[in-house]
Amino acid sequence: MDSLRSKENLNHFDRIFGKTNSKPRLFEAPARINIIGEHVDYLGGIVLPAAINFSVQVFLRPNQSQIFQFHSITYNETVKVRKPFQSHPTSPWTDYITGVIVEMEALGFDVPAFDLLVDGNIPQGSGLSSSAALEVVTGFAISETYGFGIKKEDIAVIGQKAENNFVGTKCGIMDQFIIAVGKENDCISLNTNTLSYSYHHFELEDYEFYLINSNVKHNLKDSAYNKRRLECESALEKIQAKFPNFKQLYDVTLSKEELIDCCLTGDELKRTIHVTSERDRTKQVIQGLESNQFSQVGMSLFETHESLSKNFEVSCEETDFIVSTLKSLGVIGARMIGGGFGGCVLVLDKKNQFAKINEELKKSYQQKFNLELDFYKFQISDGVKEIFT
Ligand code: GLA
Repeated sequence: MDSLRSKENLNHFDRIFGKTNSKPRLFEAPARINIIGEHVDYLGGIVLPAAINFSVQVFLRPNQSQIFQFHSITYNETVKVRKPFQSHPTSPWTDYITGVIVEMEALGFDVPAFDLLVDGNIPQGSGLSSSAALEVVTGFAISETYGFGIKKEDIAVIGQKAENNFVGTKCGIMDQFIIAVGKENDCISLNTNTLSYSYHHFELEDYEFYLINSNVKHNLKDSAYNKRRLECESALEKIQAKFPNFKQLYDVTLSKEELIDCCLTGDELKRTIHVTSERDRTKQVIQGLESNQFSQVGMSLFETHESLSKNFEVSCEETDFIVSTLKSLGVIGARMIGGGFGGCVLVLDKKNQFAKINEELKKSYQQKFNLELDFYKFQISDGVKEIFT
């Protein structure tokens, strides 16, 4: 976010919470994309995410009282809470903050009360992880302000636990992790079983990635997400009854016939096929990016979309339409990203195609759904950090 907006927010902070001798500190966390490895990060899979230059910023200052005060610029709302925290029925955005405090305290850190102002430009419900960014920036800001010295990797885990336990979405670790450790110009490959990771830099030559926001968010998103996770768990249990050597669904290497012999339901079978085929596509995409085989990468992205739509069933009419139209317009690869049920599509294409695709797709989407599309070019940026003003 630009420094002018940060400056205005600092004045806002003073107006809302009062100016004192101690200046609040400013922290920022990015949004994220994921190139490949979708819906595998709670099954021990490999994911290839990168941090991008949309962000959430918080100003934070200890307040020497028992009352935590949070102000959101987006909602133009101030909320005051004290321990023990409950989830907030009318201001759910505060749960991402209090959830993080609860998880830090569960680890033995005592978090004194503070004033916090939050602002951001990550489009909400777009699948770019605005909530994970709020969790990570809150955790990092608290850790730095009170000198806890918690490693960024551990802040990510705290954020995920806040989301799992306090907010109630049983998300994996991918979003919080990349938002914590991201690096300008690099994506990471993260093994979500061991949390080991490495940075990768890919030269895209005359190709580029960009995003298209479908501007829809279907409200079954969170419940369906949790349901998918349960289906994957029950599939694994049934597989393990016959093949105890498979420790996680991501590692299963059985044929369709062998899977059917494990008595999987139709849904469990489809979920398993998505997860195990995503493992193969992830390898192909990494190889393709390393060897500049961009059409191979693009093909795998289309295949992932197809599998997310048909096997994992987390797409929707709007994102399916975007991807199939892009394909017919000759784009080299595209797929929905994130949890699904709306949100953004990631596109890989030749740089000189952007304007033409933009115009044609906007027109046909508007005609079909009477909805606007947003196109975002982005840069790969750093993970969470303090901004010195
Ligand atoms: C959401 C979750 C992530 C991950 C993706 C799907 O973004 O927060 O943990 O599961 O969906 O890959």
